[in-house]
Amino acid sequence: MAFKKENFYIETFGCQMNEFDSERISAILEKQGYLKTENRENAGLIILNTCSVRLKAENKLFGHIGNLKVLKEQNPGLVICIGGCTAQSLKEKLIDTFPYIDIVFGTGNIENLSDLIKTRATSSKSICKTSGNPEEIKELIDFKRKFPFKAFIPVMTGCDNYCSYCIVPYVRGHEKSIKPATIIDSIKKLAADGVFEVTLLGQNVNSYGQSFGHNVEAEDAALKNANSFAKLLNEIAAIQGIKRIRFMTSHPKDFTEDIINAVRDNSNVMGHIHLPFQSGSDKILEMMNRKYTSKEYEDLFYKMKERIPDCSVTTDIIVGFPGEQEEDFNKTLELVRKLKFSRAFTFLYSSRKGTKAEAFYDPVPIVEKKKWFKQLLDTQNAISLAENEKMTGKVFEALVESESTKKSGRLEGRLENNTIVNFDGPKGLTGSFINLEITQAHPFYLSGKIAEHK
Ligand code: SAH
Ligand code: SF4
Ligand code: F3S
Repeated sequence: MAFKKENFYIETFGCQMNEFDSERISAILEKQGYLKTENRENAGLIILNTCSVRLKAENKLFGHIGNLKVLKEQNPGLVICIGGCTAQSLKEKLIDTFPYIDIVFGTGNIENLSDLIKTRATSSKSICKTSGNPEEIKELIDFKRKFPFKAFIPVMTGCDNYCSYCIVPYVRGHEKSIKPATIIDSIKKLAADGVFEVTLLGQNVNSYGQSFGHNVEAEDAALKNANSFAKLLNEIAAIQGIKRIRFMTSHPKDFTEDIINAVRDNSNVMGHIHLPFQSGSDKILEMMNRKYTSKEYEDLFYKMKERIPDCSVTTDIIVGFPGEQEEDFNKTLELVRKLKFSRAFTFLYSSRKGTKAEAFYDPVPIVEKKKWFKQLLDTQNAISLAENEKMTGKVFEALVESESTKKSGRLEGRLENNTIVNFDGPKGLTGSFINLEITQAHPFYLSGKIAEHK
C-alpha cells in the first residue's frame, strides 16, 4: 500500500483517557470516509494524540514530530494534526516550532476535527484551535475497539484537585461527571454487543457525581444528592452480562467506605485498586496539595486489604518533589517497605509550566534525586517479585486477552488482581475465562499453565 490521501494514522501517548479520545477521533474520521492504517508511510493524514504530564513525554513527542518532516517533504499533501494535552498546553507555539504542522486541536476540540481538516484544505495557513471546553462526551460507545470484549468508559472528564505538581487540570479543564443514565445505558448496549469487561475512567473516579450541582440546573442538583461512585458501581455490577468491572484512578481523599463495600460486595467488581500515594512525608503531601496524611493513607490501605479478600493495591510515587529532603524520601521508602504494593509506578519529579510547584524552591541536585529514584525502584522491584512469588503453585481464574506480544504460541491472561500471566495455549481461547496454575513469578508478570483442576 502506498501513500493515500484517505488513509489516516493515529498514535496515542499518555493515559487511558487519551486512548479513549483516540477511539473517538478514529470513529469521527471513519464516518468521514477515512480508513485507518497501521503504517505511517501510507497515511495522508497523521494524528498524534499527545501527553504533557512530564517533560520527558513532551521531549519524546518533539522527536516524533521532527521525524514527520521527511514524510511531509515526500508527500506535500500530507496533513499533520497534533491533539491532546501538549496541543492544549503549547497551542500556536507548536506551529511556530514545527511550521509543517497543519492543525493543532485541543482536548475540547475533538468534535471539530473533521471541520478543521476541511478548512485546512482550502487555506494556506496552519490552524490552531484549542478554545473548546472538554465538554460532556456525547457518545461513549459508538466505535471500534481493540478488544471486542473489553471497553473503556469515562465516567468523568477533567480534574479539580490541583495537585501542585500536575498539569492535568490546566489541559483537561474542570471535573465533569457524565450522567449516570448515559453511562448505564451505554454499558447495557455494550453488554448486548458482547462486551463483558468495562474499565471506568477518570482522573479521580471516587469523586464521581460531585460536579453535579455546580451547575444551576435543578436536574443536576438532584443528581448530586442521588449519586456517588459507590452507587454507580453497584448499578453497573447489576447489569446482566458484565463479568469484570475495573476503575481508575482513585484518590485517597475521596475513597469512602461505601466504595470499599461496593468492591467487596460485588463479585464482578475486580479486587484491584490503583491508589497513588505520591509521597510518604506529610510535609511533602501538604506541599503537593494531596489533602491526606501518610497515616490516613495507611489506614485506608489496611481497611481495603482487610475487607476485600485478595485485593491488590498499586500506586504512583513521585521522587524529588521541590523541597524533598533525604528524611522525606526515607519516609516514602519506609511506607513502600511496609505496605508491599503489588506494583508501583515511580516518577522523577518534572516541573510543569503554570503549576504551583513550578515556583517552589528546589535545592536538591538531580544526581541526588536519581540516586533516590534508583533506590526506590530496586526496593519496589524486589517487593513486586516477592508478592508475585506468593502466587506460584496456586490456581487463579484468568481472562484470556490476546496472543503474547513477546513469544509466538503464548497467550496472555489477566487475573482479577490485574496481573498478566503468560501461558501456552490455542489462540481460540482468546476472550474466554480459564483457570491457570502459576508456575513462575517475575516482577511485573507471571508465567503459568492451563490448570487441570481449580
Ligand atoms: N489522576 C491520576 C493520574 C495523574 S497522572 C492521579 O491523580 O493519580 C499519573 C501520575 O503521574 C500521577 O499519579 C503522578 O504520580 C505522576 N505525575 C503527575 N505529574 C507529575 C509531575 N509533574 N512530575 C512527576 N510525576 C508526575
Ligand atoms: Fe493531577 Fe492530582 Fe488531578 Fe491526578 S488528582 S490528575 S495528580 S491534579
Ligand atoms: Fe497525559 Fe493528558 Fe493523560 S497529560 S496523563 S494524556 S490527561
